[in-house]
Amino acid sequence: MNSIFHTSEVFVSQNQFVAEFSNSVILDIKREDLLHAEVSGNKFRKLKYSILQASELNRTSLLTFGGAHSNHIAATAAAGKLQGIPTIGFIRGEELEFQKDAWSPTLNYAASCGMKLKFLSREAYRQKGILSFLNEIRSQFPDAMIIPEGGTSELAIKGCEEILTEADRDYDYICTSVGTGGTMAGLVNASSAHQNILGFSALKSAHLSEEIKRMTHKKNWNINSDYHFGGYARTSSALIDFMNDFFRKTRIKLDPVYTGKLLFGIFELAQKNFFPKDSKILAIHTGGLQGIDGMNERLRKKAQPQIITEL
Ligand SMILES: Cc1ncc(COP(=O)(O)O)c(C=O)c1O
Repeated sequence: MNSIFHTSEVFVSQNQFVAEFSNSVILDIKREDLLHAEVSGNKFRKLKYSILQASELNRTSLLTFGGAHSNHIAATAAAGKLQGIPTIGFIRGEELEFQKDAWSPTLNYAASCGMKLKFLSREAYRQKGILSFLNEIRSQFPDAMIIPEGGTSELAIKGCEEILTEADRDYDYICTSVGTGGTMAGLVNASSAHQNILGFSALKSAHLSEEIKRMTHKKNWNINSDYHFGGYARTSSALIDFMNDFFRKTRIKLDPVYTGKLLFGIFELAQKNFFPKDSKILAIHTGGLQGIDGMNERLRKKAQPQIITEL
């Protein structure tokens, strides 16, 4: 089968200079968002080995979990369509089953890719990691490859290790946004001992460091929890203003849930001289741009400024 993930090929994304701060601190961005039009950023890395394994094991579908705006749901639906594997998405929010007109752009997109959507109550959704619940799903879909929420698994971490290449060894700091921690774990595994991997938490969670410790044995990393803006998918006008200003200056779009907060944090820390003189920083653009339309819908309803995507 023709695959968007050619088995042995490691895809290399371009690093783009974006800023020089005082103290001669340089910031480049790794444009993982440009890896693929529909399966972009860390989703490409996280899905690669799971999808290759699904075809090796003759799995007849991909089954996964996510919220109504999930980048992972959108990417899995797109990858399934491109690879010719049916996809099933278990979505948080049973009320959506009978309110098609309230579907997010993400759900409409996933459905247009052919993903079969199944809606779960919030209570049932919380059980998605529990063995008995998974066994029940396995019995209903015995030939499906089950991929966890957010796509994080050992195979996903292996895929994320391919984000960094030899050419990135010169960077002192590798900065990334953190949700489940899989992307960060891959970066830590692939880093050199002299590099600091700095993860910016996109959500309010006291457990992220514990999660990362479970996924990597290396110690050259830290989590910064000062830039989640009140929690997962929460925004502020300062964040939206920053993202719009960043887009006007660099022509690089950021998403409001992950990369916008990451870049806001890096800029503020650089301005506070957190990074030592002459530091070279590489920020990973993990994609997520499909979420902009859904966020703009919500901002419009609250009569708040929108994220701009055109100049
Ligand atoms: C665009 C984007 N960036 C970063 C992350 C965080 O990745 P992880 O869940 O591996 O920490 C996600 C979520 O998976 C994401 O969708």
